[in-house]
Amino acid sequence: MPPVVEIRPSRGNMKMKILGISGSLRKDSFNRKLLQAAIELAPEGMEIEIFDRLGEIPFYNEDVEERGDPESVIALKKSIESADALLIATPEYNYSVPGALKNAIDWASRPPAPTVLNDKACGIIGASQGTGGTIRSQLALRQMLGSTNSPVLLKPETFIAKAQDKFGTDGKLTDESTRKHLASFLKKFSEWIVRSAEVQPSKAGQKKALETRSPPSLS
Ligand SMILES: Cc1cc2nc3c(=O)[nH]c(=O)nc-3n(C[C@H](O)[C@H](O)[C@H](O)COP(=O)(O)O)c2cc1C
Repeated sequence: MPPVVEIRPSRGNMKMKILGISGSLRKDSFNRKLLQAAIELAPEGMEIEIFDRLGEIPFYNEDVEERGDPESVIALKKSIESADALLIATPEYNYSVPGALKNAIDWASRPPAPTVLNDKACGIIGASQGTGGTIRSQLALRQMLGSTNSPVLLKPETFIAKAQDKFGTDGKLTDESTRKHLASFLKKFSEWIVRSAEVQPSKAGQKKALETRSPPSLS
């Protein structure tokens, strides 16, 4: 019997592994709570793990990089590499993404191609306390992920405005229509991740292995 290998993205009894990244460093972040809600509402087969070390990543500096990636950057790159896709929850700071998130993307995009972000499927969500719901920061993030060659799910979009009215004091997403929307977003995100793997030549081996449950041929 051929050995069973861990193949991503997954179907059947295998898990699709998603790395959640919140662009906010604060303890009571609504974006972090949004990722927690995503963990709760994820469709069957999707497992979301949050990368919690954004605040430890130093400012990108090519001199530092030349001496070797800092440990937090190595951890970030490994987490991205081993995930089937990224789910990024971004706040909006001055119409764009917070510096900490941009900085993490800058590190992950180095050294130039192929990087751990190349061909990495991404989903973007975001929560703000204002009425815009992070529309502008999500657009900025999409533009950035174009540079890293990371395909982003186009629709549905997920803009959570007035976040302070949608989460309970225990941090749980309580707004029913937002819960429904997030669950539907995650379902479509998971279907799109599988479809992306099917059409990308670089992942064709994964897809074949997915069907046969045997290791992809190296020839
Ligand atoms: C420096 C800074 C700039 C901000 N700029 C915006 C903005 O441009 N648009 C917006 O909707 N909210 C803006 N906000 C408010 C954030 O949306 C709000 O603080 C949100 O709760 C941050 O996300 P978090 O709860 O995940 O930390 C800004 C907040 C900070 C600290």
